[in-house]
Amino acid sequence: MLHQRLPLIPVTDHAAEIEAWQVRFEAVLDRQLPPENQDPAILHQAMRYSALSGGKRIRPVLVYATGQTLGLLGEQLDPIAAAVECIHAYSLIHDDLPAMDDDNLRRGRPTCHRAFDEATAILAGDALQALAFEVLAHGVPPSGNGLAVIKEIARACGSAGMAGGQALDLNAVGRQLDESGLKEMHRLKTGALIRASVTAPCLLAGTDRQTVSHLAHFGDSIGLAFQIHDDILDVAGNSELTGKNTLADAALAKPTFVSVLGLEESRRQAQELRDQALSSLDHVPGDTRTLAWLAGYVVSRDR
Ligand code: IPE
Ligand code: IPE
Ligand code: MG
Ligand code: MG
Ligand code: MG
Repeated sequence: MLHQRLPLIPVTDHAAEIEAWQVRFEAVLDRQLPPENQDPAILHQAMRYSALSGGKRIRPVLVYATGQTLGLLGEQLDPIAAAVECIHAYSLIHDDLPAMDDDNLRRGRPTCHRAFDEATAILAGDALQALAFEVLAHGVPPSGNGLAVIKEIARACGSAGMAGGQALDLNAVGRQLDESGLKEMHRLKTGALIRASVTAPCLLAGTDRQTVSHLAHFGDSIGLAFQIHDDILDVAGNSELTGKNTLADAALAKPTFVSVLGLEESRRQAQELRDQALSSLDHVPGDTRTLAWLAGYVVSRDR
């Protein structure tokens, strides 16, 4: 079941296709996480509590959708999908800590440091990041392509990517950012890992430079759009659906797209980015219809 070939037939029911990948991915991730009765049990429980708590799995889905466009098999993509989601889960655990966003609700449940304690949450994040690279080192081919994948994901989560963006975010608390500062922060803290979810499969496949650059542009555009829409959901979303407290950004005096540019302009820019993402796909050979569907989903989702 886990190693079956991804469907190559044209699929029109994208939601069903994506749901099948989500189901596949839950099993992939479950297999990679240490069992919760293995010592130190509390740490493994915290890792599993946060990683297996029902996220949308948009980054793994992007890995599978991009890989399918490029003709890769599911089993080749599983390690990349698991790695990006482990890094994402770690970033959420740390993002929710009192030293950062001090949130008590995530995916409709108490945040990791509330369910366990702060020290355990810090360590669960640390261990999830290490696990991501262990899974990659075991799962990608020991070749230039495999090494390129590891470098790409490392860069996306370090100071030139997610961690750097989180530093900009914390530094901006209580201050105003201009539009370009805001975009830079969003591109790094959220866009970089989403972009890598698209570019890493390209590097694994050894895709030609032109196609990689169009897909990278696609990833950039939906990555920024994803965080703009996250800012919108903080103000206009339904906490029952998002599983997060609403109005949390304003409570912390965080500059967001909505606080700087307003709701209407934020929506307009998110849709413009979706259109740019769709234009990039025009230059990509192969069946890009699922990627196109995902670009629309990013700016219309309610969770
Ligand atoms: C939330 O990410 C944090 C951001 C980077 C905006 P997601 O919206 O992908 O969260 P989950 O994984 O579905 O819970
Ligand atoms: C999170 O941005 C970005 C990360 C790298 C985790 P937010 O702080 O807006 O994410 P949420 O709204 O808490 O999910
Ligand atoms: Mg944050
Ligand atoms: Mg947050
Ligand atoms: Mg947010």
